[in-house]
This record gives sequence, structure tokens and C-alpha cells, in this order.
Amino acid sequence: MRSTPLVIALTKGRILEEVLPLFEQANIVPVENIAQSRKLIFDTNLDNVKIMVIRGSDVPTYVEFGSADVGVVGNDLLLEYGSGGFYEPLDLKIAKCRLMTAQPIGAKPGKGRLKVATKFTNIAKKYFAEQGQQIELIKLNGALELAPAMGLADLIVDIVDTGKTLKANGLEPKQLIANVSSRVIVNKASMKIKNVIIREILSKLRKAVEDRE
Ligand code: PRP
Repeated sequence: MRSTPLVIALTKGRILEEVLPLFEQANIVPVENIAQSRKLIFDTNLDNVKIMVIRGSDVPTYVEFGSADVGVVGNDLLLEYGSGGFYEPLDLKIAKCRLMTAQPIGAKPGKGRLKVATKFTNIAKKYFAEQGQQIELIKLNGALELAPAMGLADLIVDIVDTGKTLKANGLEPKQLIANVSSRVIVNKASMKIKNVIIREILSKLRKAVEDRE
């Protein structure tokens, strides 16, 4: 009887570009060019390993519920998802960036209830509560950098990499909420049932990360 394949959930974009070379070192290579395909699930050089490509914010969901055994996702999205419903055994140390607050350049720190625009609403709620700062949360799904200029928010909580997007929109980074990098997460049941292959992949990935440092 053939065993069910191991399913690994990845996301397109920068994580994919940086994660595929690490997977290659772990001897997992997709049989076609993922970035150029419209398909969402891919065979690999290994009969018993498949790669699916989904939105980053959906990776924790697929892995928690076991529809994917393993996932690669930024810890910004893990913090936002907020459950401990999977293992997080490895930091791949790729796709590094920072989760920060940002506000119009030179703006004075506001008094009273601040309007905060973000797609990371759970993180923002927790962060400002810890600071003892009352806020009004405004959920946006993208182009957050426009919100202060358009009078929608006093500040934003967003990912900062080079800082160019903030600068181009008259904003400056303020407080660091978290350093971000891509993490491997593993479904708890899969870790038991598919222990041998998952351990082997984790150990090869760990070695690949160490080799890079
Ligand atoms: C992120 C973030 C900023 C940008 C920051 O967006 O939301 O817009 O990167 O990068 P920078 O500091 O190098 O300018 P991303 O491209 O990941 O897409 P998103 O809008 O889906 O978040």
C-alpha cells in the first residue's frame, strides 16, 4: 500500500525564491517552475512529497488542520494567527524583515485614542494594550501606507524591509514590534505519523541553514 504523500505548503513571492534553494539542499525539488505556473499543487523529485502554494496567511490554517503536513511562513503571520496548534521547529532565517509601527515623518506622538490602520489587527491590539495605549483599529488589506496621508489613520503597523515604501509615502518607522523571518511549522499529528520523513527533511534544512551562516 502506498502511503499518503507529505504535503508542504509554501507561498509565492520572496519566500518562495529564498526557500527553494534550501529545499534543494534538502533534496526536495519541484518538477516544474512554480513561480511561472498557475497550478497550486506540484509534484517533486520525490514520489511521496508534494508542494502546495497558497497565501501566507492561509499556511497556519492548512497546517493546523492537517491538510498540509509542513508549512513555511513568516512569524508575523504566525503571531497574527495566534494559535499553538502546530510545532514550530525551525527558523529558516530567510525573508527577513521587521514588523513596525510607522507614522508621518516628523509627526508628534499623538495623545488620546490613536487610529491605527493595519492588516495585523491581533498583533496591533496586543501590542498597544501592552503599551497601555488606547487605539481605534482600522482593518485594511493592503496599501496601508496611504492611510495616514488620506486622514484614515494616525499610524500604521506593517512590514518594513528596505523602508523605501514608507519613505515614498512620507512615513517613517517608529517602534519595532517583532523581527520577522520564515519559520517551518509542522502539524502535530503528522509529526507522529510521518515522523521519519519529517525528521529527515528538518535535519537537512537545519544543515542548509547552518551552511549559509
Ligand atoms: C510589504 C509591506 C510594504 C513593503 C515594505 O508589502 O506591506 O508595503 O513590503 O517593503 P520595503 O520596506 O522594502 O519598501 P509586500 O510587498 O510584502 O506585499 P503586501 O502588500 O501584500 O504586504
